[in-house]
Amino acid sequence: MAVDILKISKDARDAKKIYNDVIDASIGMFFDEDKSIGGMPSVSKAIRELSDDQILPYPSVDGGPGFKKDLISWVLGKYEDEIKKTMYVDACATPGGSGAIASTFSIMTKPKDYIFVSDVRWQYERFADRAKLNIFEHKLFDGDAFNLQSFKERLDALCAIQHRVVVIVNDPCHNPTGYTLTLDEFNKIIDILNSKTENEIIFLYDVAYLEFTHEEDNRLKMSYLPKLKEHVMTIVTFSGSKTFGVYGLRMGAAIILSKNKDQVADAHKKYVNEARGSWSATPTISIELFNHFAKPENKKVFLKDLARLNDIVQKRSMSFNEQAKEIGLVTYPFRSGFYTVVLTDNPDQDYLKLQEHHIYAVPMNGGIRLALCSLSIHEIQGLPSKIKSILNL
Ligand SMILES: Cc1ncc(COP(=O)(O)O)c(C=O)c1O
Repeated sequence: MAVDILKISKDARDAKKIYNDVIDASIGMFFDEDKSIGGMPSVSKAIRELSDDQILPYPSVDGGPGFKKDLISWVLGKYEDEIKKTMYVDACATPGGSGAIASTFSIMTKPKDYIFVSDVRWQYERFADRAKLNIFEHKLFDGDAFNLQSFKERLDALCAIQHRVVVIVNDPCHNPTGYTLTLDEFNKIIDILNSKTENEIIFLYDVAYLEFTHEEDNRLKMSYLPKLKEHVMTIVTFSGSKTFGVYGLRMGAAIILSKNKDQVADAHKKYVNEARGSWSATPTISIELFNHFAKPENKKVFLKDLARLNDIVQKRSMSFNEQAKEIGLVTYPFRSGFYTVVLTDNPDQDYLKLQEHHIYAVPMNGGIRLALCSLSIHEIQGLPSKIKSILNL
């Protein structure tokens, strides 16, 4: 069972009540430089101004036609029309990106199946445990690049023993490393998925941090999806938690894309059924908050807030990574996003050693993950050298 990040975060908050030197880098929530949550005034204001009608009633289970239309447009961006020329698209609201992942596992797999994930990853095994699934890993990195060879060899091996395979790709701003695939790497992943013509592939494209990439065009990879052949169905999982900084509201969605019309209709029905039989419906407040920001005039204001926040997140990461480099503290290759991983030999012991010095971080395969999104620039100053000396790296 994966370590419980929410528990580490709670321990950090408890420690803060006693000590004044606690560094809480445990969880992927943005805190501003003054340590306040809610770095986007447009979001806080919009929540406060929602009416009873936008909060209290039951919503449509899938979010309703307006929500789905706007959400699909939001995520696919200017490539939507092009994508829709060859692909069928539908969506279902979910409680956060987590709801989209959990329901995809539930709908698309049967107990004892394997899901295909990288060796360094966010806690997908939590969802796998619940759906009684096993993990089949590929290596994430080959040096400073995505390990395409391992991805291909391991997928070949899994496809030889299992007909339908859920393949998870978390990009951009991979959690926990902060890596973002190059366009070439993403294209080659698509080629590999396309080559598995004897199998059914469910491509779970986890774009929780889509807005935080510093790629020139953060939707360009979406424009490659139409290259996917009919045996591949794509589920883009969207996280409103990360996009709008509304972690507790549980805003998310699964966007279904495929060249096969019936498959999309069937999957949509299953997501709705899954929702009704588990969480019932995504909170109305999160659906309505999204609807608010889908309006061009509101989106414009939000994007300004987002740009400021994005800039701060990147400055923090750059500061940490530059200091780390200077003193020889090794991290996984980082591009952008909420996290960085410091490589250590014994992550399960090392994160506890850091806790003894009031630094709260999360053990991962190969190292310790620091959620730099939640630390101020001031807290990050000197942090790499502290970690290096505590862990004798
Ligand atoms: C990679 C990744 N995917 C999905 C999620 C789901 O986020 P939420 O359920 O809060 O929208 C997270 C949250 O930390 C994440 O890091």
